[in-house]
Amino acid sequence: MIRKKMMTTENIKNLILSRVEEAALKLFGQKPKIFDLTYPPDVNLGDFTIECFSFAKEFKKSPEEIAKNLAEAIKLDKVIKEIQAVGPYLNFKVDKALLFKEVLEEIFKKEKPRSIPLKRELRGRQIMVEYLSPNTNKPLHLGHIRNGVLGMAISRLMESIGYKVIKANLINDRGIHICQSMLAWQKWGNGETPELAGIKGDYFVGQWYVKYHQEANKSLEAKEQLEKEAQEMLQKWEAVDSETIKLWKMMNEWVYRGFEKTYKELGLEFDVFNHESETYKSGKEIVETGLLKKGIFKKTDDGAIIAELENEQKITLLRADGTSVYITQDLGTAKLRFDNYHLDKLIYVVGVEQDFHFKNLFKILKMLGFKWVDKLRHLSYGMVNLPEGKMKSREGKVIDADDLIGGMKELAAEEIRKRHPELAPEEIIKRAKKIGVGAIKFYLLRVKPNQEINFNPEESISFDGFTGPYVQYAFARASGIIKKIQENNLRTYDVLRLENVDFSVLKDEKEMILLRCLIQFPEKIKSAVDEFNPSVVAEHIFEIAKAFNNFYVFCPVLAAENEKLIKARLALVRAVAIVLKKGLNLLGIEDLEEM
Ligand code: ARG
Repeated sequence: MIRKKMMTTENIKNLILSRVEEAALKLFGQKPKIFDLTYPPDVNLGDFTIECFSFAKEFKKSPEEIAKNLAEAIKLDKVIKEIQAVGPYLNFKVDKALLFKEVLEEIFKKEKPRSIPLKRELRGRQIMVEYLSPNTNKPLHLGHIRNGVLGMAISRLMESIGYKVIKANLINDRGIHICQSMLAWQKWGNGETPELAGIKGDYFVGQWYVKYHQEANKSLEAKEQLEKEAQEMLQKWEAVDSETIKLWKMMNEWVYRGFEKTYKELGLEFDVFNHESETYKSGKEIVETGLLKKGIFKKTDDGAIIAELENEQKITLLRADGTSVYITQDLGTAKLRFDNYHLDKLIYVVGVEQDFHFKNLFKILKMLGFKWVDKLRHLSYGMVNLPEGKMKSREGKVIDADDLIGGMKELAAEEIRKRHPELAPEEIIKRAKKIGVGAIKFYLLRVKPNQEINFNPEESISFDGFTGPYVQYAFARASGIIKKIQENNLRTYDVLRLENVDFSVLKDEKEMILLRCLIQFPEKIKSAVDEFNPSVVAEHIFEIAKAFNNFYVFCPVLAAENEKLIKARLALVRAVAIVLKKGLNLLGIEDLEEM
């Protein structure tokens, strides 16, 4: 399998695989069908391993025996230095200096970790990730933060393996809840604006939504009256009544300006904004065609249009008064997206509470015969709870995104002040943003999306433990060493060039563990992508950070005993810095050189 002189990490792996194939052919008369290289749990056992369980059936021998036979049959060479059968495992040790060199070279080459070879078939292909998708009647809350952070991480992961990702935000800008805030402002607002009130636009509009419900809860009559008026307003809106539209546009603009500030704080980016107001009509048409032409939907006695799914489940698609519901626009939005873009996949990042909605949506789109239904995927994520504490303000109320971000920045600033009382306030603010926001992101991404989270602010900001700051700190440490070298003219090492680095001097177990981590990084990205699960990356960069800190304590770099060792360790440190930065950035977390 090794054709060229070039020896990459991939080629080293392939070489081992082909040696195993050849030996199996000789010994058992056939090549094994599916097998893969993994890693022994302990670096001292070897660099790579092959589990022989899967061969047992094929070769009609016990896995232990197969491992033993193979170990004896495979010859050692310049690359493969040692083979050992340990029970059913076949462990390989390869030329360490070569392995270090190849792994590091690939990392350095792109100033980013060994990228997975771009799958040719992915090139130029597009996917859409829809995330965040707020309603315009209130500010963003903690759940939106999880959504946004997950959406960004998934987008970046997809991009890193070669997809072009269109990041879409579907704004729910219409419907009865928007009319409720509009109505309240119209009745009691006295022409006030966010500017006059000095309040961020999304909060301002949110207050009128709250006001509506306060008034409606005063009495049954008040409730009925307000509901009637709000419903009338919705009908007027659907009839494009100019006054209503004007009010609606003005209030939505207020909200958007407010949202933009929060997006910026969190580093959320969007390429496309879809608005439900622009898609619900096409949704209506789809529903009507489904009823009239295709006969797949039904009209109820009161005039609503419904879809009947299995188990006699009935889903309303259009209300009796002809107004559309939540799912109506989703039919139109999905069609619009596939009409406008060539998409390989459309991923909806939406909370677990909408599992049922998306199941139904996909079923109904299938009933309608859209060919792209199989490209849809709901990436569901669990709830985030905030335990009682200094950030949970009003009893039972969900925390606003802005308050949480502010609180985390404050916690980060406290920590930085403790460590560096001498720092200028502006510098503290700058670092606190990266650390505070990074801490939130890491905490939300370190577990599988479907897992529920109890957000613990103090724990998330800790510089010690499975946290963002811990990983950021390891990066800062690693890049600090490189910086020191670059600034120190007395001892200039060209850490960029590996030709004259002799990696055979790296013998410490802690160095081997780091090497192992670096080898696995691209595979981890791939699993994260395949599983739609950024926690794989979070866990792995945490492993690297831990391995690095352990190395840092026991293996002096600049103070190593000789020049050769200094050079080799420097190269390793630089590779670690590159990979940690890349890993953090894939999660949407900023790196910083000093903490
Ligand atoms: N705006 C909706 C909500 O806050 C979420 C929209 C999710 N996306 C979708 N295509 N339905 O509940």
